[in-house]
Amino acid sequence: MISFVWAEDRNHIIGKNGHLPWKLPNDMKHFKNVTMGHPIVMGRRTYESFPNGPLPNRLNIVISRNPNYRVPDSVVLITDKNELSHYVQSDEEVMVIGGEGIFKLFQNDVDRLYLTRIDYDFTGDTKMVNIDYNQFNLIEKKEGIVDDKNVYPHTFETYQKI
Ligand SMILES: NC(=O)c1ccc[n+]([C@@H]2O[C@H](COP(=O)([O-])OP(=O)(O)OC[C@H]3O[C@@H](n4cnc5c(N)ncnc54)[C@H](OP(=O)(O)O)[C@@H]3O)[C@@H](O)[C@H]2O)c1
Repeated sequence: MISFVWAEDRNHIIGKNGHLPWKLPNDMKHFKNVTMGHPIVMGRRTYESFPNGPLPNRLNIVISRNPNYRVPDSVVLITDKNELSHYVQSDEEVMVIGGEGIFKLFQNDVDRLYLTRIDYDFTGDTKMVNIDYNQFNLIEKKEGIVDDKNVYPHTFETYQKI
């Protein structure tokens, strides 16, 4: 099963200058909880945005068109989404974590959405792909807690394909 995990602002912005446009530690925790123990699939640029390299305790799968792109031994590099089946079990929940190019690539395969809606207008250069929410049921919704470290109102939503 393919799941998408992402956070977007009011205008579907997801990135700016190769990084997230916001600081929202609650969403980092949520991301960790949702993805922990699952394979994560990401574009080369998203992979390069991690300050400390691959994310621990998850199989990191990076997609690049460059077959010579160098990754550490613990990381899997693929150049085509069809190679994914060599590295994940068919009954496994595979977490596609972006960015835009990779969400586009899996747009027709996705079964579950883990969306963090951030109720704020950021500037950015990367947007989420269009999702047809008529094809999904909202199965969980939780308000994030706003505090001095998490200043933007945010909601965690989970959708399942009908
Ligand atoms: N808000 C969120 O939840 C969230 C999540 C993820 C990322 N982001 C943000 O989004 C931005 C990065 O997203 P992005 O769209 O620019 O880049 P990206 O999707 O992370 O990576 C793009 C790269 O993936 C490879 N690629 C794309 N399509 C491919 C295909 N069909 N076959 C093989 N390889 C393919 C190419 O790598 P090569 O150039 O090496 O060939 C391409 O340059 C950053 O700002 C990041 O912080 C935000």
